[in-house]
Amino acid sequence: MKRTVILGTGHYVPPKVVTNFDLEKMMDTSNEWIVQRTGIRERHFVEPGIGSSDLAYEASIRAIEDAGIDKSEIDFIILATLSPDHYFPGVGVILQAKLGLAGIGALDVRNQCTGFIYALSVADQYIKTGMYKRILVVGAEVQSSNLNFSTEGRDMAVLFGDGAGAVIVGPNEEDNDRGILSTHLFADGRFLKDLWMEKPSPKDNPVFSNKMIEEKRYFPRMDGRSVFKNATVRMPEAVKIALKHNNLTIDDVDLIIPHQANYRITELVARSLGVSMDKVMSNIDKYGNTTAASIPIALDEAIKSGRLKKNDIVVLTAFGSGYTWGSAVIKM
Ligand code: COA
Repeated sequence: MKRTVILGTGHYVPPKVVTNFDLEKMMDTSNEWIVQRTGIRERHFVEPGIGSSDLAYEASIRAIEDAGIDKSEIDFIILATLSPDHYFPGVGVILQAKLGLAGIGALDVRNQCTGFIYALSVADQYIKTGMYKRILVVGAEVQSSNLNFSTEGRDMAVLFGDGAGAVIVGPNEEDNDRGILSTHLFADGRFLKDLWMEKPSPKDNPVFSNKMIEEKRYFPRMDGRSVFKNATVRMPEAVKIALKHNNLTIDDVDLIIPHQANYRITELVARSLGVSMDKVMSNIDKYGNTTAASIPIALDEAIKSGRLKKNDIVVLTAFGSGYTWGSAVIKM
C-alpha cells in the first residue's frame, strides 16, 4: 500500500493585526497578563464580510502552487472548521465553487481544534485505498466575529485569531518510506460543555429568541482550567501512543507541532514528553489560537523556514472542544 505524502502546503492570515494593546482598549485586560498566561502577542482578524471560505481559498491557492499541480488534479476536498460561513451548507462546497472545481466531493469536518488531524486522517485512508489521488485538506477559521470583546468575555476573547492552512496530499509514488505513518483520533463527548458554543441550537423552537440574545448564549464559553488540564494530559498521551505504534522513541522525532492553544500548554506538553522547546513548534505569539487552522499554518511555516526537511519525522498533536484530541506521525 502506498503511503500518503504531503505534496504542498500553504497558509493565509488576513492582513489586519490586532495586538494585546488593542484589546486593552476594549476590555479590562493587559498585554502583560495575556503574554504571561498564553504567550500571545498579536492575532489577525478579518474585515466584515470575509468568511472561512475566503481564508481557505487563499491558503489552498498557495498549497496548490507549492505542490506544483494544476488545481484540476484535485479530486477531493476536506475542510475542517468550527466557523462555517453558514449554518448550512458546509464550507467545503463553497471552497470547491471558489476554486472552480464543481463536481468533486467536498467534506466538512467539525472537530474544532483537532479538526485538521481528523481531516488528515480521513484523507490518508482515501489515498491509501486508492480512491483519490490528490486531496486538498484545509483548516480555516474566522473566530473574531463571534467573541465577546467586553471584560465579561475576556477569558475567551484574548485567545483566538483568524487564519487558514492547507495541504495537498497524494500517494507516495517513489521507492522510499516517506509519508503518513499513523493517525490516532480520540474524543470524549462527556466534556462538551467545557468548551462550546451552545446557541443557536435547533433544539430550541424557535431557534432564535430575545432571551438567548440577552443572555449572550451565542458566544463560545469554556471552563479554561478544565481545558488546560485535559490538553496538557491528552496531547502527550496521544503522542506517546503514536510513537509506540510506530516503534519510535521521542529521540527519533525531529519536530513536534502541537495545536497552538496556549504557550504554557505547549511547554507542559514538551515537558511531559521530555523534550526541550527546540523540538517543539510554537507560533502562537503571532496568531493566537486559530483552532483547526493552527496545525496547517504551523506546518507550512516549519517547512518554509527549513525547520522541517525531507525525511524528518514530525508529530502533530491537537486537543480541543468535544473534547477531541489526536496525533499524526509523518515522515516528511
Ligand atoms: N485579562 C485579564 N484577566 C483575565 C483575563 C484576561 N484576558 N481572563 C481571565 N482573567 C482573570 C480571571 O477573571 C481571574 O480573575 P479572578 O482571580 O479575579 O477571578 C484571573 O484572571 C485568573 O483566572 P484563571 O482562569 O485562574 O487564569 P488561568 O491562569 O487559568 O488562565 C486561561 C486562564 C484561559 C489563559 C487558561 O485557563 C487557559 O489557557 N486555558 C485553556 C484555554 C484554551 O486553550 N482554550 C482553547 C483550547 S483548544
